[in-house]
Amino acid sequence: MIAKSFSDLVFDDVFMELSEVLPQTPVFVKLEGFSATGSIKVKSAVRMIERLELENRLRPECSLIESSSGNLGLALSMACAAKGYSFTCVSDPNISPQTAKMIESYGARLLIVKQHDKNGGFLGSRIDLINAMLAADHNLVWTNQYESINNVEAHYLTTAPAILRQFPAPDYVFVGAGTTGTLGGISRYLRQQSPHTKLIAVDSAGSVTFGQPSGPRYIAGLGTSRPPKIRKHSNFDALVMVKEEDAVRMCHQLAYKKGILLGGSSGTVLCAVQQYAPQISRSACVVAISPDFGDRYMDTIYNPRWVASHFPHFYAPKSTVELSDECVIFT
Ligand SMILES: Cc1ncc(COP(=O)(O)O)c(C=O)c1O
Repeated sequence: MIAKSFSDLVFDDVFMELSEVLPQTPVFVKLEGFSATGSIKVKSAVRMIERLELENRLRPECSLIESSSGNLGLALSMACAAKGYSFTCVSDPNISPQTAKMIESYGARLLIVKQHDKNGGFLGSRIDLINAMLAADHNLVWTNQYESINNVEAHYLTTAPAILRQFPAPDYVFVGAGTTGTLGGISRYLRQQSPHTKLIAVDSAGSVTFGQPSGPRYIAGLGTSRPPKIRKHSNFDALVMVKEEDAVRMCHQLAYKKGILLGGSSGTVLCAVQQYAPQISRSACVVAISPDFGDRYMDTIYNPRWVASHFPHFYAPKSTVELSDECVIFT
């Protein structure tokens, strides 16, 4: 493969068989972390920018702005740098420090909103800031991943067909929901091409996307404190809500015991598979989406101190020996 640009590096056909999530049934995890900027979001970023250009709403004199918990911001930073647009990413204190540094490494501006919205999250405050900035600058363009049909179509055109190329008739597909772009695109495609497949939506406890009560959340990527408008495109068979603490435990277990380092939203989706296990027959073909790897979460979900401070009841792994404030040795 010879790519013409970094954003062409999308590896949609990589799956891994995990035999440890369910006792008798393998789970095929679609690994999105190999694509450019390390996440599923490069597909949404490229699609949204290209459509805005085609519609002449994004012109050379324009700058781009977006609200992101990290991965879309990073993908847009890369794509904007390659195309010569300046880009501002509006995020919040839950962004992984590594992702924040990577966004700035592409020359983008990162604004962190610290004020909670009325549901105790930050999304409402991030969007309020963007609206104020749009009102003050008419050359500023918002991709708006929460409302853009192009965020849904990106997955209808890429992620979903890639699943059926590998597994022509999956029984279950588990998909985490942030903006619901991935869920919406996959649901539209599966309903048309594989109607018997059961689509299971996964969200973090505390997220209000599907009308559940709001609560504090710290894992970037999944959940919202304000339901995204594109949610209406998602048609699924069941919703599984997962406690963030359980998702972190899943990530740690896969890393320590299996050598698989996944991001927090992947841990959440695999917890959902376990929670849903009583409904899954032994012979079922189960697919789950892993939006990114764990390497960008060293300061958060793989940092014992961060875990202890955010989840006070989380058990510390026995193998962790704390030496000083600066040094932790894993034996
Ligand atoms: C790590 C991670 N997981 C899951 C998602 C959710 O994807 P979507 O916004 O398509 O619902 C995102 C979105 O940014 C993400 O970054």
